[in-house]
Amino acid sequence: MERVYAKSITGVKNLTRGNIEYILDLALRLEPIIQGESDKKPLAGKKLVTFFYEPSTRTRMSFESAMLSLGGGVISMSDAMRSSSVWKGETLQDTIRTIHNYGHIIALRHFEGGAAEKADLYSKVPIINAGDGPNEHPTQTLLDLLTIKKRLGRLDNIHIALCGDLKHTRSANSISLALSKFDNVKFTLVRPEGFETQQWILDIMKGKNVEIVETEDLQGAINDEPDVLYMCRIQKERFDSEEAFNAINGKYCLTREMLSQVDKNIIVLHHLPRVDELDESVDDYPGAAYFEQTYNGVLVRGAMMTMLLKKDLEL
Ligand code: NCD
Repeated sequence: MERVYAKSITGVKNLTRGNIEYILDLALRLEPIIQGESDKKPLAGKKLVTFFYEPSTRTRMSFESAMLSLGGGVISMSDAMRSSSVWKGETLQDTIRTIHNYGHIIALRHFEGGAAEKADLYSKVPIINAGDGPNEHPTQTLLDLLTIKKRLGRLDNIHIALCGDLKHTRSANSISLALSKFDNVKFTLVRPEGFETQQWILDIMKGKNVEIVETEDLQGAINDEPDVLYMCRIQKERFDSEEAFNAINGKYCLTREMLSQVDKNIIVLHHLPRVDELDESVDDYPGAAYFEQTYNGVLVRGAMMTMLLKKDLEL
């Protein structure tokens, strides 16, 4: 386990396995504080600035909830495209050179891939990437991994199936990069033709000790009894045309009936929000863990802020 020494967290791409394990361990150690069972306030005096160019429920609110629980404060821009000076045409670099004066750490969500890395160049405070276009979503991945770790007790030797719009889903990108850093991981990538995982991610994965199977058949993937099945929303806002969207819309819908074809209790994850790809009949399936993911999001985001802001942490 090793803390991240870089100023910012812009992607899983830049994290080592040791960094991931450090963050997950810290998340569990912070849990009593975040739950209000301890008087410790490790981030007292620190302010989080959230600046979101795209909509969010879980990511922004869990960042804020964690910061408040850890004793810090929060200022928030939740609809930057309309209610900030972005509406008047302000550039990302000018926005960052302004808002870094207002807090000690920035959680940034943006519609362009690479925005967090660019922001990091202009910011004097740490940037945490809260999603950059179709590129990466590292905090989502850390909470996904914590959920898997809690349920399965390991991150090595697992078989994960990812299903949906793998071309545009940043959460799928980041978890693919992350689990490729662990040993003996098998990926089943379930997607229609034209919605494949981006080539640069596949290239990194293929350079690691992983097995990759690509298919269009969700039931077939379930019958192969993966440990984890990660359903993904079709990222409608990233499509150029209605026609392109219709090529995948309605293609996959996971139901309880589909899961009951096998005896294994598969851990079902979803980054949320779900739309049509994950039926409510799955909600009381014992493997359904998507609302646990939202709980774990508070822990890992708290851990990432604490790690970046408190180099001398003692708990
Ligand atoms: C995701 C996102 O914004 O990338 N939401 C989230 O953070 N949990 C996924 C999505 O919008 O489909």
